[in-house]
Amino acid sequence: MIHLHRVSLSYPGTKTLALYDVNLEIKRGEFVFLVGPSGAGKSSLLSLVLRRVLPTSGAVYVEGVNLRRLRGNRVALYRRQVGVVFQDHRLLPRRTVEENLAFVLRVQGVPRKLWPEKIARALRTVGLAHKRRAFPHQLSVGEAQRVAVARALIVEPKILLADEPTGNLDRENAHAVLELFKLAHARGATVLFATHAEDLVRAYPRRVVGLRAGQVVADRRLG
Ligand SMILES: Nc1ncnc2c1ncn2[C@@H]1O[C@H](COP(=O)(O)OP(=O)(O)OP(=O)(O)O)[C@@H](O)[C@H]1O
Ligand SMILES: [Mg+2]
Repeated sequence: MIHLHRVSLSYPGTKTLALYDVNLEIKRGEFVFLVGPSGAGKSSLLSLVLRRVLPTSGAVYVEGVNLRRLRGNRVALYRRQVGVVFQDHRLLPRRTVEENLAFVLRVQGVPRKLWPEKIARALRTVGLAHKRRAFPHQLSVGEAQRVAVARALIVEPKILLADEPTGNLDRENAHAVLELFKLAHARGATVLFATHAEDLVRAYPRRVVGLRAGQVVADRRLG
């Protein structure tokens, strides 16, 4: 489903390679942890799959489509199939929880009459139905991150990218967030999950791709 073929990436204005000759094949429905030290290239790899950056050489294919060939509004259409969660929740600060979710549905062109049901379901999934009228600053860090996950999941993305989504969370909240990703995985999403948290990898032993200095140095299947 996701195929990186001989991908190298150097950011404009830099000489070093953030990724170097990376080959990676991820099947539909796989759950892949991306691990490796700071600067290894985890976020860069996710940016390539989101098509926020293009490879300097090589190609990224998603469902057989070379992302380099997407032009204009096709980029936006592609990204709509991809859910993303970052380390910080990035919720809109002046919008309530339900307005944050409605915003995504609007962008995605989901008919308005479907919003209440979808929002209610997404918030139930993350256990925050009672917070739907709250503003982000009224939430705990863990709650805000669960809303961010709800926002990523509400459109049932085929691909789910997570860049250290538990980096700001204590152990309990981190595992709660992992549970949400497991749920999305069980529903068929292909998940790429970048993390430093080894206990999460142990808690959900799946495929683990190790990066170091821009190269894939390990690729193990734990389950
Ligand atoms: N926007 C950018 N411009 C220039 N160089 C960048 C940019 N983003 C990342 N890099 C460089 O690319 C390399 C890989 O960075 P990347 O952010 O992908 O690593 P990472 O594995 O996500 O690290 P971390 O665990 O700290 O998040 C690093 O050397 C970094 O300095
Ligand atoms: Mg990173």
